[in-house]
Amino acid sequence: MKRTIIITGGAGFIGSHVVRLFVNKYPEYRIINLDKLTYAGNLANLKDIENKPNYRFVKMDICDFEGVYQLMQEEHVDGIIHLAAESHVDRSIKDPFTFAQTNVMGTLSMLQAAKLYWESLPEKWEGKRFYHISTDEVYGALEMTHPQGIEPPFTTKASSGEHHLAYGEKFFTEDLKYQPHSPYSAAKASSDHFVRAFHDTYGMPTVVTNCSNNYGPYQFPEKLIPLFINNIRHRKPLPVYGKGENVRDWLFVEDHARAIDLIFHEGKVAETYNIGGFNEWKNIDIIHVLIKTVDRLLGRPEGEDEDLITYVTDRAGHDMRYAIDSTKLQKELGWEPSLQFEEGIEKTVRWYLDNQEWMDNVTSGDYQKYYDDMYKNR
Ligand code: NAD
Ligand code: TYD
Repeated sequence: MKRTIIITGGAGFIGSHVVRLFVNKYPEYRIINLDKLTYAGNLANLKDIENKPNYRFVKMDICDFEGVYQLMQEEHVDGIIHLAAESHVDRSIKDPFTFAQTNVMGTLSMLQAAKLYWESLPEKWEGKRFYHISTDEVYGALEMTHPQGIEPPFTTKASSGEHHLAYGEKFFTEDLKYQPHSPYSAAKASSDHFVRAFHDTYGMPTVVTNCSNNYGPYQFPEKLIPLFINNIRHRKPLPVYGKGENVRDWLFVEDHARAIDLIFHEGKVAETYNIGGFNEWKNIDIIHVLIKTVDRLLGRPEGEDEDLITYVTDRAGHDMRYAIDSTKLQKELGWEPSLQFEEGIEKTVRWYLDNQEWMDNVTSGDYQKYYDDMYKNR
């Protein structure tokens, strides 16, 4: 079956993995990467697929309702996978307006353009899908009832490594009330509500997923894992917020992309699925693993860079613990993470060390010239 799908935010971290997977796996589909190329968008993330015949890049703001509507008509779009967003909590604390504009108004613009276009067709909603990618942060923070860790109730391939513990009995399930704390999660929560409202009010075939923290290649080095790998390499201080005791639930980005593929094709309309690998880690424990791994791969004595750890003022409103219960996705659609965390971290550290040019271009700002070089005169 032929399909034409817009993937928004395809030049970002997760979006680039989703675009790559769809372009390679479905040569019969037409994949349109719609991205504004903010500081977080980097077309060098997609060098390996940019000349494939089933791929098109369009530089556009999701808030440009007219532009998005025209593109949908021109391309006969029947599917949307919506990832474009402002995604960094620390930036949202400094500049909440941009987060409301992109995450809320941008999502509304995508929804309204899709509604007007799809409703104008004779078959209307038939064969259409609006898939909204969200975060577990909308559920708020879980309590850390067991700071020393307890045996986890569930294990997956991602969590079966030797460090695996749970830090409380409660997990985020799909039926939990939304309780976002940061401007980032408040804006994402609002966009989730708009997506559900378009299903409930107009009958749009929507689906929403809420995923835990992702890690892997091509992540912008403002987020914990790539920032710390790069700092360890260059022997720069590692700014640990608070006591480093906060817990995040980590999933390898390609496993998220595989879940998105499955849910886009097989997820039930109007449903919500949580995505995560039951893989909770305290920040400080991850930081020790990163130091050990970078040191070993660079031939330094293991643990030599422990003295880079620098405790700094905590993030305002810092959520204590995130932990996703992805039982529904595993039982109903048969998804499972493919990688153990130790394997995923090794692969990730190796990728950043082997792709120093990518990192240097991102940290120097040179990556922003890539669009002009590659696309402007086409
Ligand atoms: P990212 O910041 O790496 O990428 C965001 C992309 O969106 C960039 O390419 C950027 O240029 C683009 N973009 C931003 N504003 C735009 C606009 N107005 N119009 C068009 N494009 C725009 O983000 P990411 O980490 O890849 O996250 C992608 C999505 O997944 C987000 O919706 C995020 O909330 C969600 N998510 C992320 C994580 C995570 O751990 N990173 C976890 C769960 C969910
Ligand atoms: P981050 O990668 O920003 O993701 P999120 O805030 O969406 O979970 O941060 C992951 C964790 O690491 C979070 O608890 C904050 C912490 N952190 C630091 O301690 N120092 C840092 O420099 C950064 C970027 C994050």
